[in-house]
Amino acid sequence: MPPSPPHLRELVHRQLGRRQFIGALGVIGFNYQHAPLPLPQSSNEHLLIPKGYKATRLISWGDRLDNGETLTFPVNYAHEQLASFGYNNDFIAFHLLESDSSGRALRGLLSVNHEYTNPSLMTPHAHSDHSPHLSPEEIKVDMAAVGHSVIEVSRVSGEWQVVWGSPYQRRLSALGPIIEISGPAAGHPRLQTSADPTGTQVIGTFSNCAGGQTPWGTTLIAEENINQGFYGRLEGDEAESHRLMDIADQSSRHPWHLVDDRFHINREPHEPNRFGWVVELDPYDPQRAPVKRTALGRFKHECATCTLTKDGRVVIYSGDDQEGEFLYRFVSAKPYHPEDPKAGWGLLDEGTLSVAHFKESGELEWRPLIYGEGVLTSESGFQSQGDILIDTRRAARLVGATPLDRPEDVEISPKTGKVYVMLTQSKSRRQVTPACHRAPNLYGHILELTPLGNDHGARGMEWTPLVLGGPSQEGGTQRGEGWIKNPDNGAFDQEGGFWVTADAKASAKESFGNGLWRCPVDGDKRGQAIRFCTVPSGSEPCGPCFTPDGYTLFLAIQHPGEGSSWSLPTTRWPDFRSDRPPRPTLIAIERDDGNKFNHTY
Ligand code: FEO
Ligand code: CA
Ligand code: CA
Repeated sequence: MPPSPPHLRELVHRQLGRRQFIGALGVIGFNYQHAPLPLPQSSNEHLLIPKGYKATRLISWGDRLDNGETLTFPVNYAHEQLASFGYNNDFIAFHLLESDSSGRALRGLLSVNHEYTNPSLMTPHAHSDHSPHLSPEEIKVDMAAVGHSVIEVSRVSGEWQVVWGSPYQRRLSALGPIIEISGPAAGHPRLQTSADPTGTQVIGTFSNCAGGQTPWGTTLIAEENINQGFYGRLEGDEAESHRLMDIADQSSRHPWHLVDDRFHINREPHEPNRFGWVVELDPYDPQRAPVKRTALGRFKHECATCTLTKDGRVVIYSGDDQEGEFLYRFVSAKPYHPEDPKAGWGLLDEGTLSVAHFKESGELEWRPLIYGEGVLTSESGFQSQGDILIDTRRAARLVGATPLDRPEDVEISPKTGKVYVMLTQSKSRRQVTPACHRAPNLYGHILELTPLGNDHGARGMEWTPLVLGGPSQEGGTQRGEGWIKNPDNGAFDQEGGFWVTADAKASAKESFGNGLWRCPVDGDKRGQAIRFCTVPSGSEPCGPCFTPDGYTLFLAIQHPGEGSSWSLPTTRWPDFRSDRPPRPTLIAIERDDGNKFNHTY
């Protein structure tokens, strides 16, 4: 009898051991490990990517944008943090600057969100990530660490590198810059504050989760969990509105109210109404003020995914990431003309916002949120379209929107035009809903929507599940060991291959590491996710973004070590230096053989 082959896990460990040794010698620029497919479901302190691929570290929290030097930690001053890459990188948009004659990207801009902070890992004495103990200057560092970064990247000797000191580089944060407010809610009395009696200008942006990219070259930045910035306890009408966004009576995650009255709702009760929007940023023009586009509604925007209707109008899909909240679609009033991209700026100020109503039959109806139509009148407390947009969640409930299980990212197949909606989970739902027959839905799912007539402006769509997350014994639809759960972000490659990230918290029940999966949308393997990589302990991969040439995947590794502390981090990725905490980091992944990313995958 031949000797039995080594167990797969043993092979994986042998591979890991070898790469760890090479990594320690510094042969590969930063610390990651190779594992053969399939990768293990568990994570460790390292980034694990399959053999045949290589990863490059581009930039990490605390790297100065002017010269690439890394700050010392903890970061002591807000001005240092503001001049450096922010914390918890999430959404990534790649904007091309230059390509060669074959179409290979040579230079571009990366427009990157910074969602929130983990003070327990950023400073030695914060004690907690929620309402941490921070000095006034440290609180300003915290405000400076969120928001957005624009960086320039260039291919040097076959590898992507950051262009330090680029004229395009830019930071947005909770400290600034001035962001304009446009669209139907601009100037609304409920957007007016003592610092801005016009209701048209707001300082900064935060809770920037996923986003989108327009055909005219701008980035759409989604403001998501804005409740985390506001402190105080209100009563009355404004409190009712804030309660719908989890604001009126809770302490804040960020202790910003201690240094800025804007974040204390008893002092500035309208300030929260100026967040929860989609911000449009022109990464090609660092002088241009970003704009909050109120026509797209106010809720916990996970994303703002852009496409066009058959007649050229602009469509933005956006999930509202909270249990029992909804999926939205905005359609612009006017079409986009590709021959005049500059005219795209402003198209998102006029149009129709709708919310999804799912039927058991597999149909989906988009129900418009228009002042004066149906129940959306003064009898329901709305006096204008601005009122509806500020309290979008309330209007959506009134028109019969279908509650969903934390609607996150939305992605559109470039091959078929079908729309994919990632739904992370519902821990609390006890009843089945038209969109999900599993209650509770701890593992999440992905829905596939097919626009009628292949037109994203159609009032109707058909819907069907693509994936029910988790193993089959938990009601999942996937076979084998590499199953996915808690889908969050997605991306399509140029060949129509669908890639999905997971955002799961550590569970005592099973050993599961977050990562990136290839998820076939057609053929025999439809919905059978295959694990591609595993990210370091406590982290979540975000913002998967392919270059238009199909050779590179950019990935944002957010909150490595989350749940642990400055003194005992579960990982010190990517530096593994005792004087540096784990750092959220952007990476680029490519094939070793120089082929397109998914060449033979
Ligand atoms: Fe910020 Fe919905 O994840
Ligand atoms: Ca997300
Ligand atoms: Ca998430």
